[in-house]
Amino acid sequence: MSPDYRVIIGDSRRMSDVTDESVHITVTSPPYPMVSIWDDFFAEAAAPTYNDMHEYLNETWREIRRVLIPSGIACINIGDATRTSNGIFHLYPNHSRIIENFEKLGFVTLPYVLWKKPTNRPHYKGKGAFLGSGFLPPNAYVTLDMEYILIFRKGPPRSFPPKDPRRYDSKFTKKQRDEWFSQVWKVPGVRQDLDGLERRVAAFPEEIPRRLIRMFSILGDVVLDPFLGSGTTLKVAMDLDRKFVGYEKLSQLADIIRRRVESSGKQVEFLEHGRVVDELVG
Ligand SMILES: C[S@@+](CC[C@H](N)C(=O)[O-])C[C@H]1O[C@@H](n2cnc3c(N)ncnc32)[C@H](O)[C@@H]1O
Repeated sequence: MSPDYRVIIGDSRRMSDVTDESVHITVTSPPYPMVSIWDDFFAEAAAPTYNDMHEYLNETWREIRRVLIPSGIACINIGDATRTSNGIFHLYPNHSRIIENFEKLGFVTLPYVLWKKPTNRPHYKGKGAFLGSGFLPPNAYVTLDMEYILIFRKGPPRSFPPKDPRRYDSKFTKKQRDEWFSQVWKVPGVRQDLDGLERRVAAFPEEIPRRLIRMFSILGDVVLDPFLGSGTTLKVAMDLDRKFVGYEKLSQLADIIRRRVESSGKQVEFLEHGRVVDELVG
């Protein structure tokens, strides 16, 4: 039997440690195509294009389809990107490409959340913050200060036996329902204070996976994060009495993930290439 919490240092494009139809919900934030800090993840092609980058992510999306139960949910946090090449400005709408790709995989697209992050600054001609001429029309661009939380379901809605106690014990309040099921979430980002790796990780705040896990899973369910970063989704899954499996490609992040959960008192199995390397009891 698998332990309740598993972290696999490896590539989520092949999740061979996760059996078919064993996961109830995925909550994740992948590297964002066309955002320069993530470029080297996609560098398998000599000069990866927007299409190559989405094809890289698609390999993980296909694995998500395999491991989710029928009626399982996938929540993907993604931002759009802008880039100027050869003097030509272009918008890359990552969210719409990911919706198309999940639809091609047979998922049902549910209404999504717009996460308003009060952090980015307005842009002038795509060159960063407004400068002195920022009050003159017409060459400024609207700021990308929203990210998307895309929500997909594998097949029809999940069914439960009548009065299933685990489902009833997982219910939310009216106040939570009204706030969480509205389309715009105003949640502040987190300060990125992880030495050196901070820019690579771009952690989301705990409030994002906390809401999604409460909204779309029940107590005891299995949560997957295939792009684990600093371990935010693992930490929240523990807090919410769910089980967890996650993948992270960069081995340097293993210690950061360990530190994140060491006070939980729960046992986490760390595996590398399918081999158990450590068991942590907080
Ligand atoms: C946006 S970050 C995730 C941040 C995370 N939500 C958090 O709160 O810390 C994306 C992560 O995916 C990892 N990654 C990229 N490609 C991967 C792959 N093929 N398999 C596993 N992890 C990958 C990167 O190393 C990075 O840590």
